[in-house]
Amino acid sequence: MIIIDGKQVSSDLRKELKAAVEACMQKTKSVPGLAVIIVGQDPASQVYVRNKAKNCKETGMNSTVIELPEETSQSELLAKLEKLNNDPDVHGILVQQPLPRHIDEYAVTMAISPSKDVDGFHPENVGQMVLGNLDRCFISCTPYGILELLSRYSIDTKGKHCVVVGRSNIVGKPMANLMLQKLKSTNCTVTVCHSATRNMPELTRQADILIAAIGQANFITKDMVKPGAVVIDVGINRVEDSSRKSGYRLAGDVDYEHVSEVASAITPVPGGVGPMTIAMLLKNTLQSFMRAHSIQAL
Ligand code: GUN
Repeated sequence: MIIIDGKQVSSDLRKELKAAVEACMQKTKSVPGLAVIIVGQDPASQVYVRNKAKNCKETGMNSTVIELPEETSQSELLAKLEKLNNDPDVHGILVQQPLPRHIDEYAVTMAISPSKDVDGFHPENVGQMVLGNLDRCFISCTPYGILELLSRYSIDTKGKHCVVVGRSNIVGKPMANLMLQKLKSTNCTVTVCHSATRNMPELTRQADILIAAIGQANFITKDMVKPGAVVIDVGINRVEDSSRKSGYRLAGDVDYEHVSEVASAITPVPGGVGPMTIAMLLKNTLQSFMRAHSIQAL
């Protein structure tokens, strides 16, 4: 059984990115920049945003974190985005989700210039991705990170049955779309399961590659997994644990302890998909910078 080490792969990737950033800076005498906006005080979001900024700096890129109070109005947020869209030193813009209820997520997504939308959430990026025009879009970071893991572990995906559990706009939908495209780590027959799916275990048991993105701790149990399957766990769920100082521990969507007894390869939580998401955000930011400076390749 192979443990797919996202922490190691993301560290390798960040080293590669750091060298690429340096080469770009020598060429252009300017620095790639990422702006991250967080509205409100959601503790998990604060951790993610801090990590994004830290990783960005470590790769040699500029990063600005804009912390806005919970009561920020939608129009104030949209005005901030307009400024960032027009700032030539900013190549990537990200608004951390979830947003407070009074702010319309769709309006925010639409207000970010598609050329700086390093989350890949804008309909223009989603559309180009679905069409397979991957050099004309940004791929959303979590599915992109999963492709990178499959590729770096040389997992054979061609013609295999991939079952994606979850249909979110951030993970499930783009993931399923990518897995059916004709790329190096895709080219699968794809099934998508969700909350209204009947006989889910019957479907998940057919998966050669099972991708769990439901947001429920330990949802995928051993009986739902075919022996030899490759299992990718996207879940980062906080479960109460009084033995921990923080009062909680992180659990994936997969019952790791038991599923790892039958899987041929599996991503752990933490240390699997999570670190890859940030690495791909940095990759998208560098990509945006290269496009802005008409750099085709390094
Ligand atoms: N919240 C959870 N995941 C993400 C992500 O990938 N991007 C943004 N902007 N917010 C998130």
